Amino acid sequence: MKKIIVSLILFSTTISAQYTDITIVKEVKVKNKGVVVSAHPLASEAGAKVMKMGGNAYDAIVATQYALAVVYPQAGNIGGGGFLVGVKNNGEKFTIDYRETAPKKASRDMYVDKNGKANTDLSQNGRLAVGVPGSVAGFFATLKYCKLPMGKLIQPAIDLAEKGFAITEQEANLLNNNKQNFQKHNQSSIVFVKDIPWKAGDLLVQKDLAETLKLIQKQGLKGFYEGKTAELLVSEMKKGNGIITSEDLKNYKVAERKALEFDYKGNQVVSMPLPSSGGLLLAQMLKMAAYENLEKYQQNSTQAVQVMVEAERRAYADRAEYMGDPDFIQDKTSYLISDEYLKNRWKSFSFSKATPSAEVGKITKQPKESTETTHISVIDKDGNAAAVTTTLNGYYGSKVVVSGAGFFLNNEMDDFSIKPGVPNMFGAVGGEANSIQPNKRMLSSMTPTIVLKNGKPYMVVGTPGGTTIPTSVYQAIVDVIDFKQNANISVNAPKFHHQWLPETVAFEKNFPETTIKDLEKLGYKSEKWNQIGRTEMILIDDNGNIHAVADGRGDDSVAVE
Ligand code: DON
Repeated sequence: MKKIIVSLILFSTTISAQYTDITIVKEVKVKNKGVVVSAHPLASEAGAKVMKMGGNAYDAIVATQYALAVVYPQAGNIGGGGFLVGVKNNGEKFTIDYRETAPKKASRDMYVDKNGKANTDLSQNGRLAVGVPGSVAGFFATLKYCKLPMGKLIQPAIDLAEKGFAITEQEANLLNNNKQNFQKHNQSSIVFVKDIPWKAGDLLVQKDLAETLKLIQKQGLKGFYEGKTAELLVSEMKKGNGIITSEDLKNYKVAERKALEFDYKGNQVVSMPLPSSGGLLLAQMLKMAAYENLEKYQQNSTQAVQVMVEAERRAYADRAEYMGDPDFIQDKTSYLISDEYLKNRWKSFSFSKATPSAEVGKITKQPKESTETTHISVIDKDGNAAAVTTTLNGYYGSKVVVSGAGFFLNNEMDDFSIKPGVPNMFGAVGGEANSIQPNKRMLSSMTPTIVLKNGKPYMVVGTPGGTTIPTSVYQAIVDVIDFKQNANISVNAPKFHHQWLPETVAFEKNFPETTIKDLEKLGYKSEKWNQIGRTEMILIDDNGNIHAVADGRGDDSVAVE
């Protein structure tokens, strides 16, 4: 891989290890070739590899996700769920929803104790926090858009799990920081825990995971949802307070949903509909911000940030009130993104001061905030585009590894509103629309997005970051379309985030101080965060020149076919 793309690499670093060289490629400019941008160089390379074998963007996105489940266990997964947004070169748009579902035995107040207190430890850690995994069903649902058989798409992941790979410094730190959590939530020993601390370059071999992947390779969907893997998962549940049954696994279904599409300044935005709030929030925020002609201002200037924050405030208040699984609630999307509704919502905006959050939504309780998920952007040489965001929810999800099967289980149940007004791990509050019901999907913020210009993919973008996902994607789009920034500047510029509650605006640590000071004078409360998002962006210009950028905040990396 390195040999082939050296001349295209604008910025790269190499981490050498005993057995493997890992080259992190941050930025690539190329034409007539497929590119993959993901959180890990080996996963991006797995995607590029299957494109070289004749695969398209959808083959690449499946191979990359399997590889992420091996090399990026903090968020890459087969024990979680995700969303795919695709635009084919013939203009066809589609989405695949492989979000986890609440097990059949789940109930509205399952995390609320006798005294009415919500127990977020139970919704965030251990077996009761696990939703029925959707990822493997999602990969099989993607196959109809692919050119290669599943057996080939999963092979790079099997090789990585069997032979092992050298971990990066970030991964070593994360594994070390989670050692106690892993020990607390797993009775048997797991490969992620060692007696001595992990360090960069150490080899991580995952034999059990390799066997699970081989079962999927041999038996298809049943290799995960039935038979040995399912039995191991269910017996893992029984080791503690888990409630997922073999029936839950057998009954899991993906949903293919019509993409949420809207115009933004002559560009067509194609994003994920409910049960992700992502596309809907994106539409609301972009449309409200457009009422103030954002293109007049500079990126991260006081006025631009004020307009964008106020649009965020109004959209996130709606998230808490109206958004949830559309198969369970009345879907108000078209009304919520209509000009009729949004113009009225925007009436209370004023450049002279911050709008109090209480004026734009019903506040029940003041939440705390906090922020693993991962995003992949792909375009192939024929112009097919794919954007996937996938997650275990928190880092390593519930921290539970299915004993004998080698993969982490999600803690996605925490994305439900476990009690109206009680914030989840991202500080998001919700109400009835996102309450727990058996088989229901928990509301997400994931926002895999493809922007089209003249009907052709112009931008493929997305990021992890919990509730900061929609606001980061929103900034990425505004940076490129309104502020005419290139992909590198847009991805790596300091970000900000507001989500109605708490009332505070979060700024990334290197955000321009003058803007923060000016906003404070207008009544905005501010807070500094270390990092917001890990955006993976591909821009394709009118002449087909591709500019792919992997976020500088992590080990994220671009690979070329
Ligand atoms: O679906 C969601 O919105 C969350 N479970 C995503 C979690 C996430 O992005 C964590 N990343 N840092």
